[in-house]
Amino acid sequence: MKKLFAVIGDPIAHSISPAMHNNLFQTYEIDAHYQPLQVKRESLKEAVIGLKAIGIAGFNITVPHKETIIPLLDKLDPLAEAIGAVNTVVNVNGELVGYNTDGSGYLQGLLTELPKLKEKNILIIGAGGAARAIYFTLAESGVQRLDICNRTTQKAEALIYDCPFSVHSDAIGIEEAEKNLADYQLLIQTTPIGMNPNIERIPLSLHNLNTDAFVSDIIYNPLETKILREAKNKGAKIQNGLDMFVNQGALAFEKWTGIFPNTENMKNLVHTQLG
Ligand code: ATR
Repeated sequence: MKKLFAVIGDPIAHSISPAMHNNLFQTYEIDAHYQPLQVKRESLKEAVIGLKAIGIAGFNITVPHKETIIPLLDKLDPLAEAIGAVNTVVNVNGELVGYNTDGSGYLQGLLTELPKLKEKNILIIGAGGAARAIYFTLAESGVQRLDICNRTTQKAEALIYDCPFSVHSDAIGIEEAEKNLADYQLLIQTTPIGMNPNIERIPLSLHNLNTDAFVSDIIYNPLETKILREAKNKGAKIQNGLDMFVNQGALAFEKWTGIFPNTENMKNLVHTQLG
């Protein structure tokens, strides 16, 4: 029988995950279908009970359910538990097991462009859910310095405090980050600033950026945010959010099927979808 997979969120209409996973099922000749499902905040519990009842093989979770789904699952991967958010669920013999492939997908995509990650001083911009997944994953991977700058410094402090993996870290404000930008070889932009429709905004001034720095933005729509454009103009290397998006999907696909798919083909497909 055809296996059913899904992504649940609200809104969900513009998700590219269904096109990406259905294409992978076709490519690897797996008899399965991946369906976008709009689930409102207040209906999450009923939706999860329903998905389990129909024997869903696995699903992704997106905004606004990544945190609130946790108590509704049967088991939780330790990294997802530490992060406090789940984006991928696998049905293992009737038990729903939650994982977080956002941070590991980000790290995997980053390593393809920047293999010597451990030697870098890293600055994460933003302290929301995405920053949390990335911070915890990088901290676990053993980087030498991992600072966070955020409009609300207390939120960055709380994020560092919550992390179970020890790493040299400071929480700083935007002005301090701008002043000390030359100390960092890698900047990771995780806020919605620069995303459609606010494309002409930048989260901090790049005046003091090293010309040999690497600037990575997790946004993929648009593919080149203002911060990436300015970084490129300064001579820095840049990476957009496509690698993270594709790799989090590839890791979810691997958990569901045992196959780690070709991420270059996935990137090309997402490119076409974005138009
Ligand atoms: P996500 O879970 O998708 O990462 P989020 O939890 O809404 O998103 O977090 C968004 C991050 O972007 C936060 O760090 C937020 O800063 P605050 O903690 O100060 O709210 C940051 N952010 C969002 N809009 C911003 C804005 N207009 N200016 C500066 N920072 C902003």
